[in-house]
Amino acid sequence: MSKVTVVGAGNVGATCANVLVSTQAADEVVLLDIKEGVSEGKAMDIMQAANILGLNSRLVGVTNDYARTENSDVVVITSGIPRKPGMTREELIGVNAGIVRSVTENVLKHSPNAVIVCVSNPMDTMTYLIHKVTKLPRNRIIGMGGALDSARFRYFLSVALGANINEVEGIVIGGHGDTTMIPLKRYAAYRGIPASSILDADTLDKVAADTMVGGATLTKLLGTSAWYAPGAAAAQVVGAVLGDRKQLISCSALLEGEYGEKDLCIGVPCILGKNGIEKIVEFDLNEEEKALFAASAAAVHKTNSALA
Ligand code: NAI
Ligand code: 2OP
Repeated sequence: MSKVTVVGAGNVGATCANVLVSTQAADEVVLLDIKEGVSEGKAMDIMQAANILGLNSRLVGVTNDYARTENSDVVVITSGIPRKPGMTREELIGVNAGIVRSVTENVLKHSPNAVIVCVSNPMDTMTYLIHKVTKLPRNRIIGMGGALDSARFRYFLSVALGANINEVEGIVIGGHGDTTMIPLKRYAAYRGIPASSILDADTLDKVAADTMVGGATLTKLLGTSAWYAPGAAAAQVVGAVLGDRKQLISCSALLEGEYGEKDLCIGVPCILGKNGIEKIVEFDLNEEEKALFAASAAAVHKTNSALA
């Protein structure tokens, strides 16, 4: 029997739980929030939709009752405050570090073998914090950011190409920040055809620029940060682990020399399976990409240094 706990029943957590139920990715999902009644209410609503849709997953909502999360295979941490218009993800560190630290300690008491998926922002730094707090093997802690940023890259690519959303390829590495993420334009493709041979350089540059501020654009439009794609991206990571899919997804992983970096979590291509991050895929970056990756890593290190 597979079991997933999602901590934080706000926009992203509840959407993640809804996608997990809709895709029947887990036998049991527990949605936990500190706010009285919210997770119970959202779980009930989602399960009533599951009845309409003919789904057989089980979702329960609980208020801060960690005993109910016992023996989860995967725990997704979405608790914390989101960005408001004009805020960067990095500005959330003070509040979210305290929340992520206490949530991590609580979930591990009841699910000592779980794979942890960190969503809370600033995500790369929160993922690093979880490593520092738990000292777990690095395969068991996955930061979710690249899955979302890559989906945004493919969305903007598909619009520029006039292509179906699932006929384009693209991956984003680096930090999950407006200035730190690196949409890899060189590898963007339309059914294997390099996007750079179809789009002119300015258009491809604009696709990359729109991707980098994709979260900020939505925050401005919505008044808070986005949730449909973030929730789906978190569920995609969970599904790859529970289904032992050996799926390549860009995730924030603790580097130990890969891409010339160590002692930080940052987005790199990862193979996800039942053990979490089963492999970090290394490939040759060109000189420009290497410089971007080094600058991104330096920025993430700087944010990490704000951790108490
Ligand atoms: P939200 O405000 O809708 O939900 C957050 C929930 O966390 C609230 O329901 C709140 O009661 C709960 N919470 C706060 N402290 C808690 C605690 N100690 N224990 C349990 N629950 C607690 O926020 P939203 O939009 O769901 O975003 C959640 C986080 O995810 C934010 O930090 C946001 O920046 C981040 N995010 C990350 C993305 C990524 O790609 N990594 C994408 C989108 C959002
Ligand atoms: C996003 O990318 C703010 O991390 C959040 O939508």
